This record gives sequence, C-alpha cells and structure tokens, in this order.
Amino acid sequence: MGEAISLGEVQETLLVPLYGRAQDAERPDSILRDTRAIELVSALDYDFAKFRGPALGGSVLRAAIFDEYLRSHLADHPDTTVVDLGCGLSTRFDRLDNGRLHWFDLDLPDTMALRRKFFTDSDRYTMIEGSIIDTDWFDRVREPGNQVFLLSEAVLLYFSAETVHTTLAQIAEGFPGSRLVLDTGGRVMMGSQDRNPVFKQLTARMKWICDDPRTLVNHGLRLLDSRTFASPQPAVAGRWPRRYRVGMKVLRAVFPPAVTTYKLNLFETTAPASGGD
Ligand SMILES: C[S@@+](CC[C@H](N)C(=O)[O-])C[C@H]1O[C@@H](n2cnc3c(N)ncnc32)[C@H](O)[C@@H]1O
Repeated sequence: MGEAISLGEVQETLLVPLYGRAQDAERPDSILRDTRAIELVSALDYDFAKFRGPALGGSVLRAAIFDEYLRSHLADHPDTTVVDLGCGLSTRFDRLDNGRLHWFDLDLPDTMALRRKFFTDSDRYTMIEGSIIDTDWFDRVREPGNQVFLLSEAVLLYFSAETVHTTLAQIAEGFPGSRLVLDTGGRVMMGSQDRNPVFKQLTARMKWICDDPRTLVNHGLRLLDSRTFASPQPAVAGRWPRRYRVGMKVLRAVFPPAVTTYKLNLFETTAPASGGD
C-alpha cells in the first residue's frame, strides 16, 4: 500500500504534472528524464491512470520551458536564490542545482506535508509552508547580496484576476528588479477546461483569464520573453521529440488559438504602472 493522499482541490492538481513527468521518464525519448517522478508515483496510493490526454505531455513541455528560463539565468548568475512558488512535488531543484544556488520551495501546508515525506531540507534547499498570496515568506527567502529568481508554474491560473493582480503587485514591490517566470492562459484555454479529459477527473478549475501577458505591466511585471509550445527556446526545442516540435507548429497553423492561448512568460519585476488592465 502506498502513501495515502489527502489534499485540497487545487493542491490535488499537482498530481497531473507529476504523472506527466513520470510517463515522460519512461520513454526512450524522454525530455526531462525525471526518474524521481516515477518513484513518487509508485510510492503514492492514488489512481493516476485516470489521467489521460494532452495535458500530461503539456505539463512536461511547460516544465522544460520553465527550466530553460532558469538554466540560462544561472549561466550568468550561478549564486542566485531561486524561489518556486506552488512547487507541488516538482523535482526542479534536482534538475537544475549547480552546487551554488540557494533554493526555496513554497507550497500550502497539506502539499508540503506530503512533500516532506519524500524530500528533506539541506544547507541550500529549504521547504516553506505558506501561500503565494501572502507576504510572510518574503523575509524567509531574502538573502543579502543574492539575486532572487521566482517561478510559479500552473498555480496563479487557479485564482481570480483580482487575487492574481494583488499577489503580483506585492511580489513586485517586495522583490524589485527580479526575474519571475509564470504561465498565463487566455479565454480559449479557460473555456475548454470541461472538455479536457484531465480536468474531468478533477474538481478544481482555472479562473484567471490573461490573453496578453504584456498587460501585467499594470501590476508590476514587465514582459521580457514569452513562449508557447510552438515556440520554445531553441535549446529546448533541440531536446523535444519530433512529435512535439512539428506537431505544435502544425496545430498552430491549423487553429492558432489552441496553441497561442497558453503562454510561458519571463518577466522583470518593476513598479506597478498606474491605471487599470
Ligand atoms: C498544478 S499544481 C503545480 C505544481 C508544480 N508547480 C508543478 O508544476 O509540478 C498547483 C500547485 O499550486 C499549489 N497551490 C495552490 N494554492 C496555493 C497557494 N495559495 N500558495 C502556494 N501554492 C499553492 C498546489 O498545492 C499545487 O502544488
């Protein structure tokens, strides 16, 4: 019998990318080679097989694009402090640790209780029980002289626009001049959730509609770079199997919004602009 799971509605969504990474790791043309995800899936008492469909592969593509934003930052700033907000059972620290960075993984208490069964803190790796929408974690992750690089992958999508905007403005004010990577979903993506076979198995639904990540400048984020699954960074595209490299471009040509509605974005935090959206 595996480890029992007791998670809130949004927290349970972490099991989708975990299973996606485990399935990817089983393939000879694996993108992330996250063999730890295979171990975690087999250690948990959960019916992962109910999750099917493109969202599983999509979570791997997303993680690869997020990884590359951080990897290229670390090439120039190896001593960065990394903060992964809403980490779930991500193994990004294991994938990107350069032996110098300091890493903080933050998630809600029930997710962290599960995570702590499999991961342990070390001198450069710290788990924090907390919420991205609060500010009490800010002082925990600030380290004198260190740059901060923040990531939040498939988390803010589940909040209302108002909550997201407030949260982003707080982060921008607390960590001015920092890099932040996050994903945005447009109207087409939000409107198709009930037809998505993965979401049919979950209670949580994504709420925040953002068709243009440039508008987040109003909430303290200046867009530096934006990708879709049809336009990953060249270093990432080189590691993707042909079915994704070509398939996503074909899909974009046939029905552009199916691909362009979901964006992976790199921002710099700045003072929020006055005015609305
Ligand atoms: C779809 S999962 C993504 C997990 C991870 N980022 C990944 O890509 O594997 C959503 C995550 O958001 C976390 N979460 C939900 N609400 C949160 C909050 N207020 N603060 C921090 N994390 C939160 C959940 O616990 C869950 O781990």
